[in-house]
Amino acid sequence: MSRPRWIWRNGAIIPRDAATVDPDDRGYQFGDGVYEVVRIYGGRPFLWEGHRLRLIRSAGELGMRSGFADAAFSAGMAELVERENIGDGTLYIQVTRGVCLRQQVFPGDSVDLEVTAYARPMERPLADLAKGIAAWRVADIRWLRCDIKSINLLPNVLARQTACENSCAEALQHRGDILTEGAFSNAYLVRDGAVYTHPADNHILGGITRAFVLRLAAENGITVREKPSTLEELAQAEEVFVTSTTSEIMPVVCVNNEPVGNGSPGVVTRRLQTAFTAALAGTTGPNFSW
Ligand code: PDD
Repeated sequence: MSRPRWIWRNGAIIPRDAATVDPDDRGYQFGDGVYEVVRIYGGRPFLWEGHRLRLIRSAGELGMRSGFADAAFSAGMAELVERENIGDGTLYIQVTRGVCLRQQVFPGDSVDLEVTAYARPMERPLADLAKGIAAWRVADIRWLRCDIKSINLLPNVLARQTACENSCAEALQHRGDILTEGAFSNAYLVRDGAVYTHPADNHILGGITRAFVLRLAAENGITVREKPSTLEELAQAEEVFVTSTTSEIMPVVCVNNEPVGNGSPGVVTRRLQTAFTAALAGTTGPNFSW
């Protein structure tokens, strides 16, 4: 995996080696920050406006000023992607509450936010999209503000590690008996032909891909119920899939070594994938900035 050559740092694009982290950065010390991962297709940020608004919301929910995410910032991100010469890739943006002597209480307005971003190439995961992935159930031990895209990802890291140790590509987290979401994705079941997914409340991250997929489902006459599902319902699901910026609409064909349905991607998942790919093909259309 190639390292980015350029880093956006508080309004300027600088060489990566010049981008150092201050040990007193509150993101580094407390995980006091928020982030976004944006997909780049054909050199252009996909669903940019959704990501920008979620970044503003996450920052706002943590009492951070969010004026940084203005039109100049959007233009700067596009310039960063171009400078890095990305075709298909990802844009990572991180905002921390800034650098000050270590103390838990907010430092106040005299301390500026630290805004960092970089872009990296990433191919579409076409092989996995075709055959599906395996997932592993993991207890959801996260806090009660999973709607904030915070850089505090230790529970997600642990969940993913457990999945990995069980030869699975994603974790399916559950709070008690209720399926919440993946370690880095939103989760869905198909039962009686309808799609079920956890409501976008404080127990999950409201995915930008999730919102887009729900819109695709509506456009394609697929019923979606934003309702929590139990582990029993997960075990009996006809289809399971997850969505995220990097994994798109990813079929889950095996959960804890048990096949989902007949063990291959299901028809509803396939229909949504087809609609997603068609939307990508129209990259000059309004969907791209939606
Ligand atoms: N993860 N839920 C969690 C816990 C996530 O971390 C993510 C995204 C999603 C899906 O959100 P979106 O569709 O907006 O990507 C759901 C990103 C990709 C990451 O951390 O790499």
